[in-house]
Amino acid sequence: MGLADEYLYSPDVLLDLNLDNSSAKFNPKVSMLNPGEGLKVRPLAKEDYERGFLQLLGELTSVGDISREAWEARFDDLKACKNTYYITVIEDTLLKKVIGAATLVVEKKFIHACGRVGRVEDVVVSNEYRGKQLGKLAVGILQPLAKKLGCYKVTLNCTDAMMAYYTGLGYVAEKENANFLCLRL
Ligand SMILES: CC(C)(COP(=O)(O)OP(=O)(O)OC[C@H]1O[C@@H](n2cnc3c(N)ncnc32)[C@H](O)[C@@H]1OP(=O)(O)O)[C@@H](O)C(=O)NCCC(=O)NCCS
Repeated sequence: MGLADEYLYSPDVLLDLNLDNSSAKFNPKVSMLNPGEGLKVRPLAKEDYERGFLQLLGELTSVGDISREAWEARFDDLKACKNTYYITVIEDTLLKKVIGAATLVVEKKFIHACGRVGRVEDVVVSNEYRGKQLGKLAVGILQPLAKKLGCYKVTLNCTDAMMAYYTGLGYVAEKENANFLCLRL
């Protein structure tokens, strides 16, 4: 993490988050300050274009060819939506590479007394870093984050194959309320 990095949201927001307040269980234990040797959990930075963030997303789905200009324009757009986009990454600081990521989007509502709902999106850990609790860390940290930001619940959708993964992290297919529909445009 460089001194001059421009973050999508304030890194201070993450500082006091406690993974014990997450439904994900860690064995061995990890914490925000000690996520693993050489690893750092932090907000997405504009400089992550050079640290392989888009290549990492390419391990999740199709990303396309995104120029530096297009990256900056989208980054600025997201940042301008204050208190909404919390793209959170894990960096291997030795290699200066982004190796894991998960996004929390905070949706503001009128219902539930102007409530907020958190939405988990774009969860990915780079292939050679998998199986080290980093996915659990990236998703797990979003729970106390969402709570801190005033969300009353967090939702996500996933493939059948990923159901076991997310139920293991505390997510529940609620009875009669777990359909996810899609209209491709
Ligand atoms: C899914 C993904 C993020 C998991 O990351 P990871 O760092 O390997 O996961 P973790 O090490 O935190 O795994 C935690 C637990 O989930 C289990 N797990 C991992 N992948 C799983 C899968 N696909 N299905 C079911 N369980 C899985 C692990 O065995 C581990 O179990 P344990 O705690 O009992 O030992 C990673 O495999 C990935 O990036 N996959 C490709 C992208 C993707 O599918 N993203 C999710 C889109 S919805």
